[in-house]
Amino acid sequence: MRMYDIIEKKRDGLELTKEEITYFINGYTSGDIPDYQVSSLLMAIYFQDMTEEERALLTTSMVNSGDTIDLSAISGIKVDKHSTGGVGDTTTLILAPLVASLGVPVAKMSGRGLGHTGGTIDKLEAVPGFHVEITSNEFMDLVNKNKVAVIGQTGNLTPADKKLYSLRDVTATVSSIPLIASSIMSKKIAAGADAIVLDVKTGAGAFMKDLDDAKKLANAMVSIGNRVGRNTMAVISDMSQPLGNAIGNALEVREAIDTLQGKGPEDLTELCLTLGSQMVVLANKADSIDEARNKLKENLTNGKAFEQFKIFLESQGGDSSVADKPESLPQAKYKVELKAKQSGTIAEIVADDVGTAAMMLGAGRATKESVIDLAVGIVLHKKIGDHVNEGETLLTIHANQDSIEEVKDKLYASITISDEQVTAPPLIYDTVTK
Ligand code: URA
Ligand code: CA
Repeated sequence: MRMYDIIEKKRDGLELTKEEITYFINGYTSGDIPDYQVSSLLMAIYFQDMTEEERALLTTSMVNSGDTIDLSAISGIKVDKHSTGGVGDTTTLILAPLVASLGVPVAKMSGRGLGHTGGTIDKLEAVPGFHVEITSNEFMDLVNKNKVAVIGQTGNLTPADKKLYSLRDVTATVSSIPLIASSIMSKKIAAGADAIVLDVKTGAGAFMKDLDDAKKLANAMVSIGNRVGRNTMAVISDMSQPLGNAIGNALEVREAIDTLQGKGPEDLTELCLTLGSQMVVLANKADSIDEARNKLKENLTNGKAFEQFKIFLESQGGDSSVADKPESLPQAKYKVELKAKQSGTIAEIVADDVGTAAMMLGAGRATKESVIDLAVGIVLHKKIGDHVNEGETLLTIHANQDSIEEVKDKLYASITISDEQVTAPPLIYDTVTK
């Protein structure tokens, strides 16, 4: 087999075989096929697309390029959730204990990563003592015992994806549906989930800004998952404005604590119930979405989800009394209120820009070496569609730095106040199943 022929075939819009896709992925992972030939194939894929079968084959080859996690020692159907990423997305912190409280095993492998705020692990580390440095045996035991545990990334998962992603980054081939879908799905499948619930975000703060693109990506990922034998569904949700009210690590932990006690922001609670009920049904712990939703709602109000969160923190060395006294979480030195300069209705809170402001405060990592400030961030008091009077507080900035003029300017620029009536955007746009 020759890489030249594979490039030519895709250039001409023909379908690649399993042998050809495996040859290219294995050859690229081992270093036998050079970057310039793979760049050319990626550009051909970008223009010619891939069939659903090719996408599934590509994903499987990427999974097989490295280690995979075997979760078979955990009893029950392991359901994972993946979000394509957004601003102030606190859902994992809530969903993990929430669905675990209904007996769904949650075996979460999580990263730190770059972004506006830290990843799930960074956020959880705002709880004194909490740690994710546990062996994989301890991890499985904890899930069997408590139904929920989080472990840091282990093993050499999907090395093909790492190499391809770096190459796509410098060859203008990131924004290709078959390449994005196979990249995301390969990582989820390698991490061992039996079933997958995807939260595909759309809007200004999302990777897929446009709703049509988000739908295409959701369909592509659901097709791949089901073709490779993992029950997969997707929810398309709004990320034009930040999710919930808090953006920042300890601030989001506090928001999660509120939500787990049934007093969280409406949009965040609703998204958790939507995603959570899908997870519960995929795990066979309820017969219908309605039944799952009612059970989840019950556990938010009867204290069971909150109790599960405390058990989870305790089991990984965390001081669970923090959940009862969230004021003991890391606190920023300054709390500055941003006041509305005019009266009207909030028409826009550009999620991306609010995320950037949080990052300027130190809530996220710009490079792998950056150190995160767990205490800082932003808490919104108004969301799109809310009325505001001149001088009223739009949001509170939690900062440790003396000068925040630039952050304030950024936030003012991200918020539009209108004289017209504005309705809030829908939270859920669509649901995609096989
Ligand atoms: N996120 C991924 O993991 N892969 C992509 O290709 C794009 C976003
Ligand atoms: Ca939030």
